[in-house]
Amino acid sequence: NIGFINGEYINADEAVIPIDERGHQFGDGVYEVVKIYNSLPFLLDEHLTRLKESASAIQLKLPYSLDDIKKIILEGIKRSELLNAEVYFQVTRGIAPRNHLFPNVSASFTMTIKPARKVSEQSYYKGIKTITTKDERWANCHIKSLNLLPNVLAKQKANNEESYEAILIKDGYVTEGSSTNVFVVKNNTLYTTPLTNNILSGITRKNVLKLAQKLDVEVLEKSFTTEFLISGDEAFLTSTTVEVLPIRSVNNKVILNGDPGPITKLLHESFRQLYA
Ligand code: PDD
Repeated sequence: NIGFINGEYINADEAVIPIDERGHQFGDGVYEVVKIYNSLPFLLDEHLTRLKESASAIQLKLPYSLDDIKKIILEGIKRSELLNAEVYFQVTRGIAPRNHLFPNVSASFTMTIKPARKVSEQSYYKGIKTITTKDERWANCHIKSLNLLPNVLAKQKANNEESYEAILIKDGYVTEGSSTNVFVVKNNTLYTTPLTNNILSGITRKNVLKLAQKLDVEVLEKSFTTEFLISGDEAFLTSTTVEVLPIRSVNNKVILNGDPGPITKLLHESFRQLYA
Protein backbone atom coordinates (compact mmCIF):
# COMPACT_ATOMS: atom_id res chain seq x y z
CA ASN A 1 0.00 0.00 0.00
CA ILE A 2 1.43 3.30 -1.15
CA GLY A 3 1.40 6.22 1.26
CA PHE A 4 2.52 9.85 0.95
CA ILE A 5 3.54 11.94 3.94
CA ASN A 6 5.98 14.85 4.52
CA GLY A 7 6.50 15.14 0.78
CA GLU A 8 7.63 11.53 0.36
CA TYR A 9 6.18 8.24 -0.86
CA ILE A 10 6.31 5.58 1.83
CA ASN A 11 4.76 2.23 2.70
CA ALA A 12 1.32 3.26 4.01
CA ASP A 13 1.43 0.57 6.69
CA GLU A 14 4.60 2.02 8.18
CA ALA A 15 3.59 5.69 8.35
CA VAL A 16 3.66 7.30 11.78
CA ILE A 17 1.55 10.34 12.57
CA PRO A 18 2.83 12.56 15.41
CA ILE A 19 0.44 12.75 18.39
CA ASP A 20 0.21 16.53 17.94
CA GLU A 21 -1.27 16.25 14.47
CA ARG A 22 -4.47 18.25 14.21
CA GLY A 23 -6.33 15.79 12.03
CA HIS A 24 -5.60 13.20 14.64
CA GLN A 25 -6.51 15.35 17.66
CA PHE A 26 -9.27 17.65 16.40
CA GLY A 27 -10.42 16.17 13.09
CA ASP A 28 -9.21 19.58 11.89
CA GLY A 29 -9.00 18.91 8.18
CA VAL A 30 -10.70 17.87 4.97
CA TYR A 31 -10.42 14.85 2.68
CA GLU A 32 -11.33 13.21 -0.62
CA VAL A 33 -11.76 9.67 -1.91
CA VAL A 34 -11.09 9.06 -5.61
CA LYS A 35 -11.48 5.80 -7.55
CA ILE A 36 -8.85 4.52 -9.95
CA TYR A 37 -10.18 2.49 -12.86
CA ASN A 38 -7.61 0.98 -15.22
CA SER A 39 -4.86 3.06 -13.64
CA LEU A 40 -6.73 6.32 -14.31
CA PRO A 41 -8.19 8.55 -11.59
CA PHE A 42 -11.92 9.01 -12.23
CA LEU A 43 -13.39 12.55 -12.10
CA LEU A 44 -10.21 13.77 -10.40
CA ASP A 45 -10.62 17.44 -11.32
CA GLU A 46 -14.05 17.52 -9.66
CA HIS A 47 -12.61 15.99 -6.49
CA LEU A 48 -9.73 18.49 -6.47
CA THR A 49 -12.12 21.40 -6.88
CA ARG A 50 -14.21 20.12 -3.98
CA LEU A 51 -11.07 19.69 -1.83
CA LYS A 52 -10.20 23.32 -2.45
CA GLU A 53 -13.74 24.41 -1.55
CA SER A 54 -13.76 22.32 1.64
CA ALA A 55 -10.35 23.72 2.64
CA SER A 56 -11.41 27.27 1.97
CA ALA A 57 -14.61 26.76 4.00
CA ILE A 58 -12.49 25.95 7.08
CA GLN A 59 -9.89 28.67 6.33
CA LEU A 60 -7.24 26.10 5.51
CA LYS A 61 -4.54 26.92 2.99
CA LEU A 62 -3.59 23.89 0.89
CA PRO A 63 0.16 23.13 1.09
CA TYR A 64 0.28 22.30 -2.65
CA SER A 65 -1.41 23.62 -5.76
CA LEU A 66 -4.15 21.40 -7.24
CA ASP A 67 -1.79 20.71 -10.12
CA ASP A 68 0.90 19.47 -7.73
CA ILE A 69 -1.64 17.30 -5.89
CA LYS A 70 -2.64 15.81 -9.23
CA LYS A 71 1.01 14.99 -9.97
CA ILE A 72 1.46 13.40 -6.52
CA ILE A 73 -1.60 11.22 -7.13
CA LEU A 74 -0.58 10.18 -10.65
CA GLU A 75 2.94 9.28 -9.49
CA GLY A 76 1.44 7.36 -6.54
CA ILE A 77 -0.77 5.34 -8.87
CA LYS A 78 2.26 4.49 -10.98
CA ARG A 79 4.23 3.36 -7.94
CA SER A 80 1.31 1.32 -6.60
CA GLU A 81 1.10 -0.68 -9.85
CA LEU A 82 -2.60 -1.08 -9.09
CA LEU A 83 -5.15 -1.06 -11.91
CA ASN A 84 -8.22 -0.60 -9.75
CA ALA A 85 -7.70 1.29 -6.56
CA GLU A 86 -8.93 3.87 -4.13
CA VAL A 87 -6.97 7.01 -3.38
CA TYR A 88 -7.60 8.66 -0.02
CA PHE A 89 -6.05 12.06 0.61
CA GLN A 90 -6.48 14.55 3.37
CA VAL A 91 -5.20 17.94 4.37
CA THR A 92 -5.03 18.91 8.02
CA ARG A 93 -4.06 22.11 9.79
CA GLY A 94 -0.66 20.61 10.54
CA ILE A 95 1.43 19.53 13.49
CA ALA A 96 1.69 21.79 16.54
CA PRO A 97 1.36 21.45 20.34
CA ARG A 98 -2.32 20.84 21.13
CA ASN A 99 -4.23 24.12 21.33
CA HIS A 100 -7.62 24.87 19.81
CA LEU A 101 -6.36 28.08 18.16
CA PHE A 102 -5.02 27.79 14.61
CA PRO A 103 -1.26 27.08 14.75
CA ASN A 104 1.22 29.05 12.69
CA VAL A 105 2.46 26.04 10.69
CA SER A 106 1.78 24.83 7.18
CA ALA A 107 -0.96 22.32 6.46
CA SER A 108 -0.17 18.58 6.13
CA PHE A 109 -1.10 16.62 3.03
CA THR A 110 -1.19 12.82 3.32
CA MET A 111 -2.42 10.14 0.94
CA THR A 112 -2.88 6.39 0.68
CA ILE A 113 -3.51 4.26 -2.40
CA LYS A 114 -4.99 0.84 -1.77
CA PRO A 115 -6.93 -1.79 -3.72
CA ALA A 116 -10.53 -0.58 -4.11
CA ARG A 117 -13.04 -1.89 -1.58
CA LYS A 118 -15.54 -4.01 -3.47
CA VAL A 119 -19.27 -4.00 -2.95
CA SER A 120 -20.54 -7.57 -3.48
CA GLU A 121 -22.08 -8.34 -6.88
CA GLN A 122 -25.13 -9.63 -5.04
CA SER A 123 -25.72 -6.15 -3.59
CA TYR A 124 -26.04 -4.81 -7.12
CA TYR A 125 -28.48 -7.38 -8.41
CA LYS A 126 -30.55 -7.75 -5.24
CA GLY A 127 -30.27 -4.27 -3.73
CA ILE A 128 -29.16 -3.53 -0.19
CA LYS A 129 -31.00 -3.12 3.10
CA THR A 130 -31.01 0.29 4.76
CA ILE A 131 -32.26 1.80 8.00
CA THR A 132 -33.19 5.37 8.81
CA THR A 133 -31.74 7.16 11.80
CA LYS A 134 -31.65 10.70 13.14
CA ASP A 135 -29.16 13.02 11.42
CA GLU A 136 -27.08 14.15 14.39
CA ARG A 137 -24.40 15.98 12.42
CA TRP A 138 -23.42 19.66 12.48
CA ALA A 139 -24.62 22.60 10.38
CA ASN A 140 -21.98 22.40 7.61
CA CYS A 141 -22.32 18.96 6.05
CA HIS A 142 -21.43 20.41 2.64
CA ILE A 143 -17.80 20.49 3.83
CA LYS A 144 -16.01 17.16 3.41
CA SER A 145 -14.55 17.39 6.90
CA LEU A 146 -12.59 14.71 8.75
CA ASN A 147 -15.12 14.86 11.60
CA LEU A 148 -17.12 11.73 10.86
CA LEU A 149 -18.14 10.49 14.31
CA PRO A 150 -21.92 10.78 13.71
CA ASN A 151 -21.46 9.11 10.31
CA VAL A 152 -19.42 6.30 11.86
CA LEU A 153 -22.02 5.73 14.59
CA ALA A 154 -24.85 5.70 12.03
CA LYS A 155 -23.04 3.25 9.71
CA GLN A 156 -22.30 0.91 12.63
CA LYS A 157 -25.94 1.08 13.73
CA ALA A 158 -26.98 0.02 10.23
CA ASN A 159 -24.48 -2.83 10.31
CA ASN A 160 -25.75 -3.98 13.71
CA GLU A 161 -29.19 -4.23 12.10
CA GLU A 162 -27.88 -6.29 9.14
CA SER A 163 -28.15 -3.25 6.85
CA TYR A 164 -25.59 -1.69 4.54
CA GLU A 165 -26.38 1.99 4.99
CA ALA A 166 -28.00 4.38 7.46
CA ILE A 167 -30.17 7.03 5.81
CA LEU A 168 -30.10 10.21 7.88
CA ILE A 169 -33.30 12.07 8.74
CA LYS A 170 -33.36 15.74 9.71
CA ASP A 171 -36.63 17.47 10.67
CA GLY A 172 -38.61 14.67 9.04
CA TYR A 173 -36.72 14.71 5.71
CA VAL A 174 -33.99 12.52 4.21
CA THR A 175 -30.67 14.37 4.02
CA GLU A 176 -28.25 11.68 2.77
CA GLY A 177 -26.68 8.36 3.76
CA SER A 178 -23.83 8.16 6.27
CA SER A 179 -21.41 8.07 3.30
CA THR A 180 -23.72 8.24 0.26
CA ASN A 181 -26.36 10.40 -1.44
CA VAL A 182 -29.93 9.08 -1.72
CA PHE A 183 -32.21 8.93 -4.79
CA VAL A 184 -35.81 7.79 -5.31
CA VAL A 185 -37.67 7.11 -8.56
CA LYS A 186 -41.43 7.62 -8.45
CA ASN A 187 -43.70 7.77 -11.50
CA ASN A 188 -40.61 7.93 -13.74
CA THR A 189 -39.30 11.04 -11.97
CA LEU A 190 -35.93 10.95 -10.23
CA TYR A 191 -35.85 12.72 -6.85
CA THR A 192 -32.84 13.62 -4.76
CA THR A 193 -32.26 15.95 -1.83
CA PRO A 194 -31.34 19.48 -2.99
CA LEU A 195 -27.87 20.90 -2.32
CA THR A 196 -27.79 22.87 0.92
CA ASN A 197 -25.42 22.89 3.90
CA ASN A 198 -27.26 19.74 5.05
CA ILE A 199 -25.58 17.40 2.56
CA LEU A 200 -22.33 16.78 0.75
CA SER A 201 -22.41 17.73 -2.90
CA GLY A 202 -21.56 14.24 -4.11
CA ILE A 203 -19.56 13.98 -7.30
CA THR A 204 -21.33 10.75 -8.18
CA ARG A 205 -24.66 12.51 -7.44
CA LYS A 206 -23.81 15.34 -9.81
CA ASN A 207 -22.76 13.00 -12.61
CA VAL A 208 -25.81 10.75 -12.16
CA LEU A 209 -28.07 13.82 -12.41
CA LYS A 210 -26.28 14.87 -15.60
CA LEU A 211 -26.76 11.39 -17.07
CA ALA A 212 -30.44 11.35 -16.09
CA GLN A 213 -30.97 14.62 -17.94
CA LYS A 214 -29.15 13.30 -20.98
CA LEU A 215 -31.33 10.17 -20.90
CA ASP A 216 -34.51 12.26 -20.65
CA VAL A 217 -35.33 11.11 -17.13
CA GLU A 218 -37.27 13.85 -15.33
CA VAL A 219 -35.21 15.11 -12.36
CA LEU A 220 -36.45 16.91 -9.25
CA GLU A 221 -34.02 18.10 -6.57
CA LYS A 222 -36.53 18.21 -3.76
CA SER A 223 -36.60 17.03 -0.14
CA PHE A 224 -38.60 13.88 0.63
CA THR A 225 -39.66 11.91 3.70
CA THR A 226 -39.02 8.30 4.72
CA GLU A 227 -42.61 7.47 3.71
CA PHE A 228 -42.02 8.91 0.24
CA LEU A 229 -38.81 6.90 -0.08
CA ILE A 230 -40.56 3.66 0.89
CA SER A 231 -43.48 4.40 -1.44
CA GLY A 232 -41.10 4.92 -4.40
CA ASP A 233 -40.85 2.60 -7.40
CA GLU A 234 -37.05 2.44 -7.12
CA ALA A 235 -34.36 3.85 -4.86
CA PHE A 236 -30.59 3.88 -4.86
CA LEU A 237 -27.48 5.30 -3.20
CA THR A 238 -24.52 6.96 -4.90
CA SER A 239 -20.90 7.49 -3.91
CA THR A 240 -17.41 7.16 -5.27
CA THR A 241 -17.14 3.81 -3.51
CA VAL A 242 -20.52 2.25 -4.39
CA GLU A 243 -21.26 4.06 -7.71
CA VAL A 244 -25.04 3.47 -8.11
CA LEU A 245 -26.23 0.95 -5.51
CA PRO A 246 -29.89 -0.20 -5.53
CA ILE A 247 -31.82 -0.07 -2.25
CA ARG A 248 -33.95 -3.14 -1.55
CA SER A 249 -35.56 -2.05 1.71
CA VAL A 250 -35.77 0.74 4.24
CA ASN A 251 -36.40 -0.26 7.88
CA ASN A 252 -37.29 -3.74 6.58
CA LYS A 253 -40.01 -2.31 4.33
CA VAL A 254 -39.35 -3.50 0.80
CA ILE A 255 -39.52 -0.91 -2.02
CA LEU A 256 -41.94 -2.29 -4.65
CA ASN A 257 -40.78 -5.92 -5.18
CA GLY A 258 -37.30 -5.04 -3.87
CA ASP A 259 -35.38 -5.76 -7.07
CA PRO A 260 -33.36 -2.99 -8.78
CA GLY A 261 -35.62 -1.02 -11.11
CA PRO A 262 -35.05 -0.08 -14.77
CA ILE A 263 -34.01 3.53 -14.21
CA THR A 264 -31.54 2.51 -11.49
CA LYS A 265 -30.03 -0.10 -13.81
CA LEU A 266 -29.91 2.32 -16.73
CA LEU A 267 -28.18 4.99 -14.66
CA HIS A 268 -25.65 2.53 -13.26
CA GLU A 269 -24.86 1.16 -16.72
CA SER A 270 -24.45 4.69 -18.11
CA PHE A 271 -22.32 5.71 -15.14
CA ARG A 272 -19.99 2.75 -15.74
CA GLN A 273 -19.66 3.83 -19.36
CA LEU A 274 -18.07 7.07 -18.14
CA TYR A 275 -14.91 5.19 -17.15
CA ALA A 276 -15.12 2.01 -19.22
N1 PDD B 1 -18.02 9.39 1.05
N2 PDD B 1 -22.36 11.97 1.43
C1 PDD B 1 -21.41 11.72 2.36
C2 PDD B 1 -21.68 12.09 3.78
C3 PDD B 1 -20.19 11.13 1.97
O1 PDD B 1 -19.25 10.88 2.87
C4 PDD B 1 -19.99 10.78 0.60
C5 PDD B 1 -18.72 10.16 0.11
C6 PDD B 1 -21.02 11.06 -0.33
C7 PDD B 1 -20.86 10.75 -1.80
O2 PDD B 1 -19.93 11.65 -2.40
P1 PDD B 1 -19.11 11.25 -3.70
O3 PDD B 1 -20.09 10.81 -4.74
O4 PDD B 1 -18.43 12.52 -4.09
O5 PDD B 1 -18.17 10.15 -3.30
C8 PDD B 1 -22.17 11.67 0.13
C9 PDD B 1 -16.70 8.91 0.74
C10 PDD B 1 -16.65 7.99 -0.42
C11 PDD B 1 -16.10 8.33 2.00
O6 PDD B 1 -16.22 9.00 3.03
O7 PDD B 1 -15.50 7.25 1.95
